[in-house]
Formats: sequence, C-alpha cells, structure tokens
Amino acid sequence: MLKNKRILLGVSGGIAAYKSPSICSLLRKKGSEVKVMMTENAKEFITPLSLQTMSNNTVHSKMFNQLLNTDVEHISLAKWADIIVIAPATANIIGKFANGICDNLLTTVFMASRCRVLIVPAMNTEMLNSPANINNMEILKKRGIVILDTEKDLLACNDYGSGKMLSPEKIVDAIDDNLTEKDLAGKKFLITAGPTVEPLDPVRFLTNHSSGKMGYALAANAQKRGAEVTLITGPTNIEPPKVHRLVKINTTQDMFGAVGKYFDDCHVLIKAAAPADYKPKYYSKDKIKKNSSNYLDVIELEKNPDIAKYYGKNKVGQIIVGFAAESTNIYKYAKEKLISKNLDMIVVNNIVKAGAGFGTDTNIASIIDKNGETEDFEIMSKSELANIILNKVKNLFS
Ligand SMILES: Cc1cc2nc3c(=O)[nH]c(=O)nc-3n(C[C@H](O)[C@H](O)[C@H](O)COP(=O)(O)O)c2cc1C
Repeated sequence: MLKNKRILLGVSGGIAAYKSPSICSLLRKKGSEVKVMMTENAKEFITPLSLQTMSNNTVHSKMFNQLLNTDVEHISLAKWADIIVIAPATANIIGKFANGICDNLLTTVFMASRCRVLIVPAMNTEMLNSPANINNMEILKKRGIVILDTEKDLLACNDYGSGKMLSPEKIVDAIDDNLTEKDLAGKKFLITAGPTVEPLDPVRFLTNHSSGKMGYALAANAQKRGAEVTLITGPTNIEPPKVHRLVKINTTQDMFGAVGKYFDDCHVLIKAAAPADYKPKYYSKDKIKKNSSNYLDVIELEKNPDIAKYYGKNKVGQIIVGFAAESTNIYKYAKEKLISKNLDMIVVNNIVKAGAGFGTDTNIASIIDKNGETEDFEIMSKSELANIILNKVKNLFS
C-alpha cells in the first residue's frame, strides 16, 4: 500500500538521525517515492549525501534557494507530499510546530502542509517528559497530528528510559497504516495461517513446511484496511502481525475447534493455513524409546477433520476463501477443491515453481472464483498478493 506513495521525510537534529537513511531505503523498497528535508542541525549527525543516496532524490534544507530554483520550495514540497513524516523529531522541532514558528524550511513546510503529518519523537527521557514537551505534543495531537510512541531502552546519553525512536521497520509500518484506506471497516475476518503439528510423543511430531507468511500478510493487510481480524495460527518462526485477536493452536483438531468458536460471527473465512490431513492414531505420553517394541517403524495414521469442507458445508452467508498448494494439474485440482468444499474463491500456487509457496516472501498464484473464472498473476510479494485477494473479497461483499 506504499507503492507510488509520495513521502516527505523531515530529519531534525537528534542522534537517531543515523536511522533516517534506513527509513528511506525501506520505503523505496516498498515502491514509495521519498524526498528528504533536513534542518541545519541534523547535518551535525548525518550527511545530506547519505540521505540523498538512500532517498534517490536531492535533499532540501535551505529556506532561501530561490536563485537556484524558481519554484517556491516550501509550498511545492508541502503540496507534493501524500504524507509528511518527521523522524527523528527533536524536542525543539516539536516545540516549533506547536507554536507556529517557521524559521527554517522544515518548520515552514509543516505550516504550509495540509496532508497527514506523522511525528516520530526521539529524545532523552527527561526531555520527553518535560512539561513543555508534553504540552507541545498535546497541542499537536489536538490538531490531528499523529505522534508515535517511543521505546524504553538504554539511551545514547546512557540514561535508561523512554525516548528511543521506533525502529525504521515500525516507522514504515505506521506510515503504511496511516496511508491505508479503511475500506474493510466493519467486516470481521477469520484467517488461519501456518502449519499444524501432530504429536507422536512428547518429543516427536508430524508437520509440514508452511511458514505462515501468506496468512500473516493477509491478516496484517486486512487489519490495516480496517477489518476486525481473528488470526488462528499454528506454530511458526515469524512474529505474527498485530491483529484484533490472535489464537495460537497446535493440532488440526485445535484449529477446527478455534474456527468453530469464531465462525458464526465472521463475514469472511480465509483458510491460508496448511493443517495436517492426518495425525498419528496413537499418542504416547512417554517418549518412545529406540529399543522398545513400539518404536516408530510403522506410524499408524488417522484422518483429521477437513476444516474447509466442514465450514463450507455449514456456512450461512460467510465468504470462504481456500488455498491450494499443488505440484501438478494445478487448475484441475484447485477447481475440484473449490467445488467439493463449497468455497467462494480459491488461491492456487504451483509449489515447485521458484518464488512460489512455502517459506518464500513471494508467491506466484492464480485465483479461481465460483464461476470458474481464473486469473493468473506474475511473481509478487505475499503482501501484494494479499491485497489482491482482499480486493476480490471486497468485491464479493457488494
Ligand atoms: C550529541 C547530541 C545529541 C542530541 N540528541 C538529541 C535528541 O535525540 N533529541 C533531541 O530532541 N535533541 C537532541 N539534541 C539537541 C538538539 O540537537 C538541539 O536541540 C538542536 O537545537 C535541534 O535542532 P533542530 O530541531 O533544528 O534540528 C542533541 C544534541 C547533541 C549535541
């Protein structure tokens, strides 16, 4: 959702300015255009050249550049931006913003802007909590300016406390969130993700390669777009996104039960998990020893419940989106699954193609709807694919 967005990054003179080039880099990787303006004091901490290189644009800092530029820069920059982000924001710059001071390019652009402004404070704990700074931040919040939190840590000044600037990743996430239209507001999404694990004994289990990345991308983007997301996830090695409700499960039976708990109340069920179809028939509560007679030469299996099929059969108006990971006859198998499980849409990927399927950050998918209409997509990030799926779900609402 940051693709083609115009982001004006303001850098003021705090020690956290060394992180500003990383913000530029992350934004550009997500397809945004970035311009940077910096205060003269910020140049004590980071060079304009670093920011110019990482933003791929000339850095703006002089108020009176008119002999070089016929454009009235503070006005054109303010009009250009979809969002202005001040990171790091010093106590000084926050004070100037709150009091309408326009004594440099950054403060003047702020005054001239009508777009959303995000302030990312970074300062010593005592400065952050000083009555003047708290008052200045309150004034700005009342005017609709978004002020992000700081983190607690050992600070550059050797004090321990709040005031540390958020990481570039978290800042970029907040920018994304603030620029995202809340077009799924009022809708409840139930999303499953990751593998399930089926234990044999306290040590061993059966599982699969699902990383959870596709389901997490769907959950993160649906939540960002205003939906109320319940994410039911099997064990993964990645951090789950911030969602309305996170339910961690282990087995397919657990996932089946968790879906049942929230299904009646949801508008959409997206089954991006890879629940195990089978589980060991017997569970040993003690570790099975290598020299024992019941060692694992043969593992007897029994079928797990088919979650998509059960809820597909019992749906009362919910939209159900399924996933199919196939290695042969992908369209045929996906269409059979769509029909037999009474799904509204199925996302199929050929897991043997490089860049598709388990563990990767990208996917190559085709989406088949109820009428058998098939759309093939080129390789793209799982986040981009998630938004395409969510757009198609949104179209089904109407
Ligand atoms: C080493 C050093 C680190 C500083 N770090 C911060 C900081 O993290 N946050 C802050 O608000 N001020 C910090 N300051 C103070 C600001 O640089 C100072 O208030 C300056 O006037 C800010 O200018 P500007 O807001 O125009 O960029 C620091 C100063 C020094 C010397």
